[in-house]
Amino acid sequence: MTVSDGLKNRVALITGIGSDKGIGFAAARILASRQARLAITDMTDRVHDCAKSLVAEAAEVKSYTADLADRVQVKQLVESVVKDFGRIDILVNCAGMVKAGEKFVEINMADLDPKKWDEDIAINLNTCFNATREVLPHMIKHYYGRIVNIASVTGPLVSNPGSAGYSAAKAAIVGMSRSLAIEVAKHNITVNNVAPGWIKTASSTEQELVGAQNTPMGRAGKPAEVGNLIAFLASDESSYITGQLIVIDGGNTIQEYKGPAEFYY
Ligand SMILES: NC(=O)c1ccc[n+]([C@@H]2O[C@H](COP(=O)([O-])OP(=O)(O)OC[C@H]3O[C@@H](n4cnc5c(N)ncnc54)[C@H](O)[C@@H]3O)[C@@H](O)[C@H]2O)c1
Repeated sequence: MTVSDGLKNRVALITGIGSDKGIGFAAARILASRQARLAITDMTDRVHDCAKSLVAEAAEVKSYTADLADRVQVKQLVESVVKDFGRIDILVNCAGMVKAGEKFVEINMADLDPKKWDEDIAINLNTCFNATREVLPHMIKHYYGRIVNIASVTGPLVSNPGSAGYSAAKAAIVGMSRSLAIEVAKHNITVNNVAPGWIKTASSTEQELVGAQNTPMGRAGKPAEVGNLIAFLASDESSYITGQLIVIDGGNTIQEYKGPAEFYY
């Protein structure tokens, strides 16, 4: 089998790379190994350290800081990337969950400060809308685009207590991208969603890691496993797939029995 070059020299903007243990970094590493040209971004300076780790592997990598919940900063970011690289072929919307270095906090809805709700929607939905909205005209101009959103199983398919804002935002990404996929199909742009289950990253909580032991696979997913799916959806090879939600959760959401393992398995 020959290695496909369906990513070679493609310009990819990947958001949410504030840690070398995250899903975005893993995707960036795979795209780099297939010689994509990378623009990576996060809200903290840690993105520059991540870029240093990728330099040896990528055809080209540049890092940018921006708060993607802020539309002015997103506009400046996209202008800078287009100035530096000439175009954007691939957008991987990975920013979300929490700011780099912070922990996800579960708060039941009856106690949820509306400001926290707005923050959850801003971090998990508006970041995706803002980046996509700014990048789209450039993709349309070049008659090519691959947009890959990192949604979640949480929201579109299942949920947990204390996660109303996160769940609403991730489900909204899926609805938003179905409409967009129909709008931009004629411009040779695809829009797809990845729905990871429990993946072991720097922001994994203790209960997520324990939950991961009870998936059919009996373990948490690895960021690189999600990265491989992202790379496929970002490549030329996925050209006839659009508007889809692809689950990568070790079989967790298809398992009907939720009781103690020893009673059934
Ligand atoms: N780890 C999992 O189990 C899991 C499961 C399902 C979905 N996801 C999703 O995958 C994505 C990556 O998560 P991860 O686990 O790799 O965590 P991560 O913390 O490594 O990555 C998320 C990054 O998004 C950045 N970010 C947050 N708000 C931002 C903003 N306003 N502007 C710019 N950057 C911002 C953070 O700084 C952080 O670096 C997230 O969208 C998350 O919701 C993760």
